Amino acid sequence: MVKIAPSILSADFANLGKEIKALEEAGADMIHIDVMDGHYVPNLTFGAAVVKALRPYTKLPFDVHLMVKDPDKMIPWFAKAGADIITVHAEACSHLDKTLMSIKEYGAKVGVSLNPATSEETIRYVLDRLDQILVMSVNPGFGGQTFIDSQLEKISNIKQMIGDKAIEIEVDGGINPMTAAECIAAGADILVAGSSIFVGGDYKKNINGLR
Ligand code: DX5
Ligand code: ZN
Repeated sequence: MVKIAPSILSADFANLGKEIKALEEAGADMIHIDVMDGHYVPNLTFGAAVVKALRPYTKLPFDVHLMVKDPDKMIPWFAKAGADIITVHAEACSHLDKTLMSIKEYGAKVGVSLNPATSEETIRYVLDRLDQILVMSVNPGFGGQTFIDSQLEKISNIKQMIGDKAIEIEVDGGINPMTAAECIAAGADILVAGSSIFVGGDYKKNINGLR
């Protein structure tokens, strides 16, 4: 069954601890934390101190998506704050292979993300370093954008490329019950969703709707 990773980008920022507890009770498989630095993407969100403060509120894995320029210096910060999975953007790393090794050295699971315009070929030679591949189905920076259909082909290509390696494919951006079904059919293992989980306030119903 597909895993659901709610993005707290759409949560009530004044009540993040409560929101995370509610997501766990509603059946979320992990908590997706969108870290934006105002440089790599225009928006600005959470730092490692926020991740640390949220850690006691749930046992669910923290799936930290770093939308930051040159993430190397931040990897230890987020690993120490309690991130279970750290994902960097292939496009934001000067030496991707080295950065991926460093995530592992700090004890977190290793993720790499690809923007809509980036080919899956970019990560062919780092597959052995990876636990997770995050396909961005919108341009990173904001919630509530429309799913970019061309990414379905990328998901199937990645699925083929990884073969029997133990790597999970995660899709992020514009996920709703309709696009969720298309992503699952293309080979997605984990779906990130913000807007479609928080809309209306019934998190359980919305999570189940995506599955
Ligand atoms: C976008 C973030 C996403 C975003 C998804 O830059 O990486 O995780 O929160 O939001 P929705 O589900 O609203 O597209
Ligand atoms: Zn994200």
